[in-house]
Amino acid sequence: MPGIAVIGAQWGDEGKGKITDYLDETADVIVRFQGGNNAGHTIIVGDRVFKLHGLPSGVVRPGKLAVIGNGAVVNADELIEEMEAVAAAGGSVEGLRISDRAHLIMGYHKKLDGAEERYRGKKAVGTTGKGIGPAYQDKAARSGFRAGDLFEGGLLREKIDFSLRYKKDLLEMCGAGECACTPGSLYEKMEGWRERLGRYVCDASVLVNDALDEGRKVLFEGAQGAMLDLDHGTYPYVTSSSTCTGGVCTGAGVAPNRIGEVVGCLKAYTTRVGEGPLVTEIPGEAGAELQRKGGEFGVTTGRGRRCGWLDLVVAEHSSRLCGFTSLAITKIDVLNGYDEIPVCVAYEIDGERVDRFPSSLSRLERAKPVYEVLKGWGGWDDAGAVSSGGWDALPREMRDYVSFIEERMGVPADIVSIGPERDETIDRRGDWWSPRVRA
Ligand code: GDP
Ligand code: IMO
Ligand code: MG
Repeated sequence: MPGIAVIGAQWGDEGKGKITDYLDETADVIVRFQGGNNAGHTIIVGDRVFKLHGLPSGVVRPGKLAVIGNGAVVNADELIEEMEAVAAAGGSVEGLRISDRAHLIMGYHKKLDGAEERYRGKKAVGTTGKGIGPAYQDKAARSGFRAGDLFEGGLLREKIDFSLRYKKDLLEMCGAGECACTPGSLYEKMEGWRERLGRYVCDASVLVNDALDEGRKVLFEGAQGAMLDLDHGTYPYVTSSSTCTGGVCTGAGVAPNRIGEVVGCLKAYTTRVGEGPLVTEIPGEAGAELQRKGGEFGVTTGRGRRCGWLDLVVAEHSSRLCGFTSLAITKIDVLNGYDEIPVCVAYEIDGERVDRFPSSLSRLERAKPVYEVLKGWGGWDDAGAVSSGGWDALPREMRDYVSFIEERMGVPADIVSIGPERDETIDRRGDWWSPRVRA
């Protein structure tokens, strides 16, 4: 049985944590395939709030396998802290597995992340400061440490000798601060990681493919979003991994035909943390109001998220790249109270109408949104909507808003999320693991 991927359709923070957790109920294995603890996925279970960074959402539901794939990067110390916090909050890390091919984020990666941002000055990316870019740089440069290296003894010592000399020189050159490590102390630190995390390290590609062969249900949990993809996002204002569906194959070690369904997580409006183009950004107090209504503050850094109206040029871009078979439209309740809701259907650039997302930053700077204005649904109170009839109980204008998106994107909105809690989820599909029955 092929797996299901959940992918962010915008710049992250679309509510992937909530949607994967909802689908996790019926899944056996949950796999993070890219990114690291730059992610912040919020899952609310009754009065408990889990804010996951490096761990897959499966740890919230005991009994599931929660796999960190080879395409992810792992900060061992911070992962250990997160594991302790999750266990204390009633989750379980028993099912955690870490690919032996996943790369490790080292202390010097965080320092270099900060230094690179300082060099960029006014053009800083606005990274999370977690060392993500430098860790992936080392992976591509073939000088990174992998989780499996923790078991390599003499080879690990040799690798440390080379890397540490190189990184110390680099840190000094960049004025990025001192690295107090010696080869001996770093080896000892890594021995500590092996003692603490070694039991979870395995060949995750074999694990996931075997699970699929046995008919177990596998969910691939995306981090960030398509517009932060290293190749297809708003480069250089992106993260350093492949956030689109293609990243599932390289980052989990599965073939394309192992992905049966792709759920695009689309927030009913747009947000972005950090710098870079955001054509539908709402300036001034109106933007601040949407930020307040949506509680749009970063889970990882606490920064305020920039807010804008829904952008269907962005949605077309991400859907084309990711092959969405379903949409999960999230946070639609945040739009309660507006009489009119603009939706961007195209851009105007230098007097021309453009309906494909451009790669040029200067063209994006000049792009003006072309809006269609939809009717709002006023101050609807969602209490009891799910129990009293689900989709049919939603206000007509809200259903029209969803239908507008479905029609423009040509993808069914199988999930509509009307609040952060598990039961504030309208599931119009039901059985996610059987082939879709088309009406
Ligand atoms: P992720 O990074 O994509 O997992 O999203 P985040 O967890 O960073 O941000 C989404 C925020 O919105 C979290 O605080 C969620 O609890 C919350 N949330 C998710 N879905 C909904 C929804 O449908 N309505 C509202 N009001 N909040 C939601
Ligand atoms: P989730 O999984 C939103 C952004 C950062 C910055 C850029 C590069 O919660 O949706 P990085 O530290 O990755 O090098 O920063 O990417 N970014 C995110 N924005 N949600 C995220 O994750 C993000 N992870 C990284 O703000 O603009
Ligand atoms: Mg987030």
